[in-house]
Amino acid sequence: MSHDTTVTARPRLTVIGTGYLGATHAICMATLGFEVLGLDVSEEKVEALASGRVPFFEPGLPEKLRAALDSGRLRFTTSFAEAAEFGDVHFVCVGTPQQAGSAAADMQYVDSAFTELASRITRPALIVGKSTVPIGTAARMATLVREVSPAGDAVEVAWNPEFLREGFAVQDTLHPDRLVFGVSSAYAEHSLRAAFAPILDAGTPLVVADTATAELVKAAANSFLATKISYINAMAEICEQTGADVTLLAKALGYDDRIGSRFLRPGLGFGGGCLPKDIRAFRYRADELGVGHAVAFLDEIDQINLRRRSRTVDLVRELAGGSLEGVRVAALGAAFKPDSDDVRDAPALDVSRMMYLEGAIVSVYDPEASANAHKVYPDLDYADSLAEALDGADVVVLLTEWNEFRTMSPVAAGQLVAHRRVVDGRHALDADAFRAANWEYRALGRPAVATVQTTLEPAG
Ligand code: UDX
Repeated sequence: MSHDTTVTARPRLTVIGTGYLGATHAICMATLGFEVLGLDVSEEKVEALASGRVPFFEPGLPEKLRAALDSGRLRFTTSFAEAAEFGDVHFVCVGTPQQAGSAAADMQYVDSAFTELASRITRPALIVGKSTVPIGTAARMATLVREVSPAGDAVEVAWNPEFLREGFAVQDTLHPDRLVFGVSSAYAEHSLRAAFAPILDAGTPLVVADTATAELVKAAANSFLATKISYINAMAEICEQTGADVTLLAKALGYDDRIGSRFLRPGLGFGGGCLPKDIRAFRYRADELGVGHAVAFLDEIDQINLRRRSRTVDLVRELAGGSLEGVRVAALGAAFKPDSDDVRDAPALDVSRMMYLEGAIVSVYDPEASANAHKVYPDLDYADSLAEALDGADVVVLLTEWNEFRTMSPVAAGQLVAHRRVVDGRHALDADAFRAANWEYRALGRPAVATVQTTLEPAG
């Protein structure tokens, strides 16, 4: 490289896009001692964060935001010029949602973030993509940046995939399993090492790779996790036809260290803003690259996952006597998983929508996600409490395993409902306790009548 490759010991960081990923990254990096400028095109988000309010539900993050703001190291802006001037290392954290009417990722936010930023950078800097993107994006962005930046090839591009889980975002950011740097020069690697020094010093494993590998790590990791979940849910389908019990099967498989029990929890399947759209975008990109056959199985993973939703509706209908028309259903949960208010591609909401379309009177209760759910499906009824949702219900269906639902008393709940019938979509309830309290208990992949007494252990 012809440009100045001196790396600042403690680089100044910007974070472009302060959604789930970006806000968490910006806040955590400031708490680690870096000067951080967060940028978003939404004035509303910037105002909220600057005034100490996290605009989504994430345990532990509001406290970290407060500490970071108090330290004076974290600021927010809507100005790309300010970010371009401020940063030595820029992290791009904007969304890559599924395109409407296609399986492909919508790249407009990534393209625009790189263009807006790079066209204003006048000195050596590194732009690091963190967004989950189709393989080949980093190379495309490198060309784009060279074209639009006044600093030309003094502005480099690297990729650093992010593996944070909602509900554990702070922990996953500050103490990740591993870091992956996709780089094309020593300057990029050294800049990233400087930007992650406190995390690397704590002994976090690091894989330094080319940018295509770094992009692929993310797609491959999410595909593997989705495959593991759909694998056990495919076994649940077999169980349903054979009288076998998928919860015992998962337990027995999980004791094999080579298989492991994590992400082997059967039930309603995966949803959220990542796994579903990421496997579809990966499949689409592989097709474009001419290797679609290598990941054609991901279509099947998606189908297995979606079938769990319709099968849950089948169980509710069966318990209701064959039709959902006019049946009062208490739907417990709307978020795609507990400890989150995220309803993107939420299996829970999808099940409620399907029951509603079959004529059920659905009362949805979620401890945190009702407001977001209401925006997506305003036609459903939203209860303000668990008791209100249960009141007079013909069938109860547990869709998201919030602790409030796991710990509900079958006796107390039984006094509120019209009929003691429950479908446990997440294997979160104590089947024996519900049956002992005269509930008809049904769960995906388990026999309608208990064959052995089982003790459920908390999900891992
Ligand atoms: C996921 C990946 O875990 C994370 O590494 C990546 O960065 C983003 O996508 P997240 O979407 O927050 O994170 O949720 P995760 O905890 O992975 O759960 C995904 C979905 O799978 C949820 O709907 C959950 O209910 C479901 N799930 C998970 C199962 O059905 N069974 C399991 O055993 C585990």
